Amino acid sequence: MKNWSSCSILLISILISLISCKYSNEAQMKNKTQDEILYRPNFHFSPRNNWMNDPNGMFFYKGNYHLYFQHNPYSNVWGPMHWGHAISKDLINWEEQPIAIFPDDLGTIFSGSSVVDLKNTSGFGSIENPPIVAIYTNHNTQKEKEGSKLFQSQSIAYSLDEGKTWTKYKGNPVIENPGIRDFRDPKVIWFEKGKKWILILAASQITKFYQSKDLKNWEYMSSFGEGIGNHDGVWECPDLFELYVEGTSKSKWVHIVSINPGGPNGGSATQYFVGDFDGERFIIDPDFELQMKKEHNFWTDFGKDNYAGVTYNNWRSKRLGVLYQGWMSNWQYANVVPTLKWRSAMTIPREISLYLSQDSIYRIRSKDITHYKESFIKKVEKENISLNKTKILLNKDELDLTKAKIELEINNMEEVKYTFVASNIKGESLTFGYDHKEKQFFIDRSNSGVVEFSENFALKPSIAPRFRKDDNLKINFILDKTSVELFYDEGETVMTEIFFPSEPFETLSLETLAKKSSLKNLKFQEIK
Ligand code: FRU
Repeated sequence: MKNWSSCSILLISILISLISCKYSNEAQMKNKTQDEILYRPNFHFSPRNNWMNDPNGMFFYKGNYHLYFQHNPYSNVWGPMHWGHAISKDLINWEEQPIAIFPDDLGTIFSGSSVVDLKNTSGFGSIENPPIVAIYTNHNTQKEKEGSKLFQSQSIAYSLDEGKTWTKYKGNPVIENPGIRDFRDPKVIWFEKGKKWILILAASQITKFYQSKDLKNWEYMSSFGEGIGNHDGVWECPDLFELYVEGTSKSKWVHIVSINPGGPNGGSATQYFVGDFDGERFIIDPDFELQMKKEHNFWTDFGKDNYAGVTYNNWRSKRLGVLYQGWMSNWQYANVVPTLKWRSAMTIPREISLYLSQDSIYRIRSKDITHYKESFIKKVEKENISLNKTKILLNKDELDLTKAKIELEINNMEEVKYTFVASNIKGESLTFGYDHKEKQFFIDRSNSGVVEFSENFALKPSIAPRFRKDDNLKINFILDKTSVELFYDEGETVMTEIFFPSEPFETLSLETLAKKSSLKNLKFQEIK
């Protein structure tokens, strides 16, 4: 009898756990489809499954753009890092590939870069089939646990099949840790004048420069950053590139460095420095440094969600700009954003160029690259619109706001706010725009849907300065299901932020108290 009752208790509890398991599986499934339908970006790269952070090792070769990324294939939060891989022909449609680089005895695979070794300087391939060489940080968790400071070192791997499969170099690591806790994220560039490779990495709160002839033997040259720029957090993911100043034949070097925390609107962001590089050291422009000391507003993006961005190797536009792409999240909340199946997307790639601003300071501008390709299916253009109250600019029958590129100009601005409102039937909205009195751009996502997962997500509106001094403003913005990328004044100020509405945003309007301003050249395009 006793046996019989304990047996039935056992059976009942198995049944209950089976039923609850079924329901929790169903709940998870429901959440997963919810993820896909509501949150999966239409044209920004996101991994099929699990966690992603920084873009890594990007290069262009034989018509393909290769994007690698920090990836934990086992879970939707940060963990043991691998390099995931995706390929695109147009920077909009991406195809995820098998994992490219796996952890090994030296550690997990942190951020880094790749180069197409066209001259086969490494000897890993041949001139006919140049090797792609990846340079990354090995992060040794075991050493870290044991309390050693020496757990990050730099290693290389090469690919002879256009970045699909990789062989690790037997002589790894190629740069040992010199005793610095945060010592990572190598970016390698070819320095034509000196016919040599330059490697830049982040070391605590400075950057270090190395040189090599063969990508295997590296020699330390110099460091940069002591007392310069923002130092509110650790420096990560540096890059260095030469750009012509727009409209001139003069070139300057731009050094970018991500920092976390310390961003202009909290958490992660990417600062930049303009100067010269003589093959050994980066020398910041004195005027630039002075201006930076007065007011540090040198950020590649002022929104909260563009981090760890670096440029593509083996790519230059006709105007000799570089191609730059970042991770569309922020370490303040990246691990808890409300997607389950996967976490994070990349920004749209942008072309960075250099110009002399109205205050005679070198600044960079970013342009979205969608204008390079036939990326659009539907185009709506509107006549000039005069502004005197709330105007509905677009509704869902005209354009799908979850895959839109929108361009317009506001003319004759008055000293008031111009607020764009993207809204849905639930009454949720994302507001962004420009305050011509304060000369300031803003994004407010406090009413944009799910925001409670982190107190930092919608604590206060993000703001950004305007550099141009006139009463006309050109705006170009890119909307996906869960992100907006705002390019103002032809990319002089950029803001990128993510959001999680419970229904898609369908209507776009503009609210303002302005009486004499008008909207011009409105062009709405739907991305394929
Ligand atoms: C930046 C970063 C890098 C590091 C990687 C680890 O987001 O912290 O410095 O290499 O992420 O995933």
